[in-house]
Amino acid sequence: MRCCFWATASLLALGPAWTRAAGQQCRLQVNAATGADSGDSSSGTGTGSGSGGHTSASETSTATSTGASSTPTLAAFDYAKEKVRGVNLGGWFVLEPWITPSLFEETGNEDIVDEYTYGQLQDQDTALEKLTQHWETWYTEDDFAEMEAAGINHVRIPLGYWSVPLTSSDTQGYTHTDPYVPGAWPYLLKALNWAKMHNIHTIVDLHGAPGSQNGYDNSGQRTGNPQFAVTPTNVSRALDTMVFIAKEIGGMVDVLELLNEGAGFRGDDWASNIRQYFQDATTAVRNVAPTDMTIMIGDAFLGVQSWDGFLTSGVGKVIMDTHDYQLFSEPELERSFDEHVSVACSNIETLTSYAHDNLWTVVGEWSNAITDCTLWLNGRGIGARWDATYVTPTSYHGSCSSYTGNSDGFSDEYKTFLRRYWEVQTYVAEQVTGWIYWTWKAENADDWSYQRGLAGGWIPQDPTDRLYPNICG
Ligand SMILES: *[C@@H]1O[C@H](CO)[C@@H](O)[C@H](O)[C@H]1NC(C)=O
Repeated sequence: MRCCFWATASLLALGPAWTRAAGQQCRLQVNAATGADSGDSSSGTGTGSGSGGHTSASETSTATSTGASSTPTLAAFDYAKEKVRGVNLGGWFVLEPWITPSLFEETGNEDIVDEYTYGQLQDQDTALEKLTQHWETWYTEDDFAEMEAAGINHVRIPLGYWSVPLTSSDTQGYTHTDPYVPGAWPYLLKALNWAKMHNIHTIVDLHGAPGSQNGYDNSGQRTGNPQFAVTPTNVSRALDTMVFIAKEIGGMVDVLELLNEGAGFRGDDWASNIRQYFQDATTAVRNVAPTDMTIMIGDAFLGVQSWDGFLTSGVGKVIMDTHDYQLFSEPELERSFDEHVSVACSNIETLTSYAHDNLWTVVGEWSNAITDCTLWLNGRGIGARWDATYVTPTSYHGSCSSYTGNSDGFSDEYKTFLRRYWEVQTYVAEQVTGWIYWTWKAENADDWSYQRGLAGGWIPQDPTDRLYPNICG
């Protein structure tokens, strides 16, 4: 396998960088790849597997399922012909209070509202201990096996810059992560191996950028004053972070996403600096990546139509990522079931006409939710627009009780709708390059959970199954 062939070569060349932060996992790659790889995608038994070099007790549990002869070959994904059918691994390397409320509740401190304050307002040993437990348990190889069985061919893995172990030799700028707690990097490598073993392609996504790229808790820091795009040192650190990832693990990653949800709507300076960053980072990544790794950019909330002609030639394979939720505003919450479906259909024209002349286009986040009822979806301590418990309550749409949480409380009518809504959104996204659902699992939000949707029957075991053909007429 190409990925691991490269990893071997690069590990030898860049040994110190590897042993620094991810020794266990690096040796795992080195040992596994040795002798098994010729560099093409048709050989390679045993790549990326094996437990050689695993010495920490926490990792021994994975050894049983990583037998050296069991790793399949994963051919490069053809984005021009195949459809991306993916899930996001939300709340793993970038905490979100609504995905894992228990982690926040157990702090006993209501001022801990995001990963930033999680590190800032607890002593570092406690935070590291809890986070390590979380990194080890929130996703395991079983999740990847279930995804594979459900026809999932991609995972998108949100990552915070603080988890990427830059040293002073990787950057002219800052390397500090304070108050974030570093340490997730080896778990990312583990995830990349599991994905490969289960025939799943990987998208590593810079979800938490230096200074915060949007001020949402899901950027790591909930703030009214995000700094990323208007602070050159923050942008250059993001760029150095992308280069580091491309150099160190570029051969294990199918797609590198340069920035999640940059707040292009904050002003022209934001929009133009994000564009410049995409351009500069694409060039920089291309200069160091060991393969023709695909790069992903995002529409920065400006709509794909704002990116006409951008990065369309001379820069290799690039995918546009656009997100689609119908639940974060009053007009969206007012829609009926039928209206949610028809609005989804109405996106086809915009997506296909953009993609026709520009980049492959993936709907990289979307979900089955049609309310903002999930506890802390709008932020820890903040209520929902749906039942008028939001900061600035407006209209009351109904009780939240049977729309989220455990699906035992969902009506048949609602579950029927959830299936239709899943089908229409996948249908629409497959008119372009495909879709990545947000998210595979959540502690108590079944309307957001792909895993719970499979169990509950409103998401089909085979993503090509259709109960509603011709759903957009
Ligand atoms: C982002 O920029 C601010 C202002 O220069 C700086 O204080 C902060 O350390 C930067 N963050 C990172 C992660 O480099």
